[in-house]
Amino acid sequence: MDTETIIRVRNLTTAYGGNVVLDDLSFDVQRGQTFIILGGSGCGKSTLMKHMIGLYKPVSGQILIGDTDIVTAKGRQRKDLLRRFGVMYQGGALFGSMTVHENIRLVLEEFTDLSRDAMDVICRIRLNLVGLGDAGQKFPSELSGGMQKRAAVARAMALDPAIIFLDEPSAGLDPITAADFDQLINRLAKTLRITFVVVTHELASIYTIADHVIMLDKVTKKIIAQGMPQDLRDHSDNPWVRHFFNREPSEERKKN
Ligand SMILES: Nc1ncnc2c1ncn2[C@@H]1O[C@H](COP(=O)(O)OP(=O)(O)OP(=O)(O)O)[C@@H](O)[C@H]1O
Ligand SMILES: [Mg+2]
Repeated sequence: MDTETIIRVRNLTTAYGGNVVLDDLSFDVQRGQTFIILGGSGCGKSTLMKHMIGLYKPVSGQILIGDTDIVTAKGRQRKDLLRRFGVMYQGGALFGSMTVHENIRLVLEEFTDLSRDAMDVICRIRLNLVGLGDAGQKFPSELSGGMQKRAAVARAMALDPAIIFLDEPSAGLDPITAADFDQLINRLAKTLRITFVVVTHELASIYTIADHVIMLDKVTKKIIAQGMPQDLRDHSDNPWVRHFFNREPSEERKKN
């Protein structure tokens, strides 16, 4: 596959008030990659994702999406950039008072001037892509957990995004449903060449979907390891990293 960098993060430092969470991170995401952000609870995974989608302003650094820096982009340029992303937040829910179809249409209403008919066609296509062709008229509460996640992905795909960000999409799913969800991500990545940036702790999921992993560390606030999960498991210099990927308990790990 040709490589083309779609996201460039350079010297990113983030803080809440005076508390630095991420210190001087630099990394690239390639187009079509499924890119995993990993690390212990509270290390800043969601924080990193929220900066990458322009929700928060960093203390310093650049986040280039294509050639545009989301940190400094304004007005029309910023809106155009945001349209290229689909997002599913941690614990992110659909609006319970609307059907699944209406949840997706809401995004189209907000960002486009399409006719109602055109919007409805797009909603149906998105639901078909995630295997929910028959569920459009259902309310979120009428769907299983796995179906709700799929519906959230359909909504994230409403505007035909180049990049989809998912924060812990497998949380709360049983292993089989989670594995089905991984297959969906792989299928969408391959067939539509969508770039996925995914926060997850699930090792099985990482080995199934990851093209590249970065592991954040709460203590140093930096990336402590990056690469293919199989390489990190077998060859990382850092014992904690090897233990994590081998799913071994360790004294090192208890400290985290
Ligand atoms: N809006 C906020 N205001 C102030 N502090 C915050 C805010 N959001 C997160 N934090 C703090 O920043 C740190 C990183 O939080 P973040 O939610 O990014 O971690 P995480 O890696 O996603 O954790 P988890 O695995 O539990 O989801 C934590 O110490 C958290 O308390
Ligand atoms: Mg989080």
